[in-house]
Amino acid sequence: MPGDGIGPEITEQAVRILEAVTEGTGLSLNFIPGLIGGAAYDAAGHPFPDATRDAALKADAVLLGAVGGPQYDNLDRPLRPERGLLGIRSAMGLFANLRPAILYPQLADSSSLKSEVVAGLDILIVRELTGGAYFGQPRGIRVVDGQREGFNTMHYNEMEIERIGRVAFEAAMQRGRKVCSVDKANVLETSELWREVMIRVSKDYPEVELSHMYVDNAAMQLVRWPKQFDVIVTENLFGDILSDQASMLTGSIGMLPSASLNDKGQGLYEPSHGSAPDIAGQGIANPLATILSAAMLLRYSFGRADLAQRIESAVNDVLEQGLRTRDICTKNDQEVSTQAMGDAMVAILRR
Ligand code: NAI
Ligand code: MG
Repeated sequence: MPGDGIGPEITEQAVRILEAVTEGTGLSLNFIPGLIGGAAYDAAGHPFPDATRDAALKADAVLLGAVGGPQYDNLDRPLRPERGLLGIRSAMGLFANLRPAILYPQLADSSSLKSEVVAGLDILIVRELTGGAYFGQPRGIRVVDGQREGFNTMHYNEMEIERIGRVAFEAAMQRGRKVCSVDKANVLETSELWREVMIRVSKDYPEVELSHMYVDNAAMQLVRWPKQFDVIVTENLFGDILSDQASMLTGSIGMLPSASLNDKGQGLYEPSHGSAPDIAGQGIANPLATILSAAMLLRYSFGRADLAQRIESAVNDVLEQGLRTRDICTKNDQEVSTQAMGDAMVAILRR
């Protein structure tokens, strides 16, 4: 689902990479195009048409570009492109959002932090996506003692905590075997239960080391010494904030992938950035966030960590060759187009 803005340019490259990396491996992917966001509104009058929903629910995985653009800003809320994203997330029941923050050593200067603090950073934030204060009932604005009062409710049941915990521990098994569960157990009852369930889940993963951290401390530690973390697992609101904070440690939005998973093994894979209307159609967008999302697709929806690693190491190789799209280009590098970056990746994968 290419979507809007730079979406079509970057997904085109990611599809080429998926084709190249699966060649001769026994895994043959069948691509079904789908309309979402503004592109779907233009073609079908709705940002998340029924045909898109049906295709998503039948697929093993969805690769998505991005949605949105200034031409849609005046539409009624239910017709806005962003509603397409909310629609597909809830239709697929995507409760786990995985966002790696990886800083390739070649790009260490693009971070706002000192390069020794962030060079080689590789952490994964696992955020619960369908519970907590963003969805809890009751919620609203009411009048109490003559004053208007806004209120929200945060709750998590054991099943919700356990299933996000399992996603984090499974991911840690494929990485550095450390999980840090972030909560506010000194203040919140939801966190008290969260901690208890995480400890229970950890018993099934004796190889993985579990630690706990209060969210305010986690925010400090992320900028003080982020390399202490491997996998961070946390609830929706904390994860929203911490995942954006972690992504900025790398300084390069064009490099950051994401995965959102449900309990049927399906996933939605998309770059962390938006549709970048300011550079759309110019052939200068960085396709690597989407290409790295395609790597996550192979790892989490098809169990092919081997192919995911080939893509990730090819990304390392193109950076090592000095190839850069404009967003990550400094004066000693060679600026290349979206297409040329895809060409270089394909060449490495076919080698
Ligand atoms: P944005 O992420 O699209 O762009 C922010 C800045 O980063 C821009 O200067 C853009 O040119 C640059 N950028 C982003 N991705 C890039 C890439 N791959 N290569 C090179 N440069 C890149 O965020 P912004 O500007 O706040 O939003 C633009 C539109 O995207 C809005 O309509 C917004 O609603 C939508 N959006 C969609 C998201 C999604 O589809 N998941 C997420 C965030 C925003
Ligand atoms: Mg956010």
